[in-house]
Amino acid sequence: MASSEFKPPYFVGIDLGGTNIKCGIVDSEGQPLLEKAVEVLTEPEQGADHTLSNMVRAAQEAVQRSGLGWDAIETVGLGSPGTMDLERGILLEPVNLRGPGWINYPICERLEQALGKRVAFQNDANAAAYGEYWAGAGKGTRSMVLFTLGTGIGCGIIVNGLILEGRHSHGAECGHIVIRMKEGEEDQPRVCGCGRAGCLEAYASATALLKRAEEGLAAGVDTALRDQWETTPAAERAKLIDDLNKQGDGFCRKLMRDTAYYLAVGATCLMHTIDPDMIVFGGGMTKGGPLLLEWIRENVKRLAFPLPAEQTQIVYAKLGGDAGYIGAAGCAKLLAEGRLR
Ligand code: BGC
Repeated sequence: MASSEFKPPYFVGIDLGGTNIKCGIVDSEGQPLLEKAVEVLTEPEQGADHTLSNMVRAAQEAVQRSGLGWDAIETVGLGSPGTMDLERGILLEPVNLRGPGWINYPICERLEQALGKRVAFQNDANAAAYGEYWAGAGKGTRSMVLFTLGTGIGCGIIVNGLILEGRHSHGAECGHIVIRMKEGEEDQPRVCGCGRAGCLEAYASATALLKRAEEGLAAGVDTALRDQWETTPAAERAKLIDDLNKQGDGFCRKLMRDTAYYLAVGATCLMHTIDPDMIVFGGGMTKGGPLLLEWIRENVKRLAFPLPAEQTQIVYAKLGGDAGYIGAAGCAKLLAEGRLR
């Protein structure tokens, strides 16, 4: 319920994920009004229009739960997986939204029509990065990079308060930086969900972690994972791997250590490109505690130039799973202030 502790105007933030849609109301200083954001299923396989109606339902419910009317809402922000054309407000070929109608989908216009509000459109990881910069781990930094580790690997880069969108809205698509090249005819780097080979996402996303685990199981490695794999739902398998890693299972330890190495390669590429104050890791895979982060830091120390290796802060996100919708609401604020298209 809105009270004097919150500062108007208010913004709706929507985080469109491959599995869930998260939606909340945020005040002008980045404070969420609802204790818990509204969460509904994305159901992308049922088509883009169906997902749109799920987003609208979530937004209506969030506004209702906040006790505010739509009159009190200034603008809406939407963070969505790419690829996208931000100026035209359309999705191009979203790698992690598969189903009818997603290619070249005019998502922004449809959402504006349905909600009767102007919509700020942003890549999901750019929005999450802005959320961490505005109200989370990156508060007070001048430049930061966020990697989101989930179904895909998202990335957002903020420099002096500006979100790096790039000429074609493909800026900071760092889940698709190539970390492994083909060395010869026999050599096949891993194929990514985007259809290309060698992407960071094909090695270090949660999806890739499960794939590497399955390959090991099929090859007959000795691991405690084998007994629990089939009975564990797919959504909980990454956590299972990390739990067994912490219990000392050698195979799971290698899977997680390799993940940390790949992520450190990604982080180092960014450090050697923009030399940011801070690199932040967020998303489901960071929920397992500090070990992964420690391993990423160890690898960065070996891979990066000494000065950035020593001084760049490498931390976990602070807003957890809320960064996406809080940042989307932050983008809505930028739109209302004429600082975003
Ligand atoms: C997409 C990005 C997105 C990320 C996380 C990647 O596959 O290309 O645009 O930010 O997944 O959803």
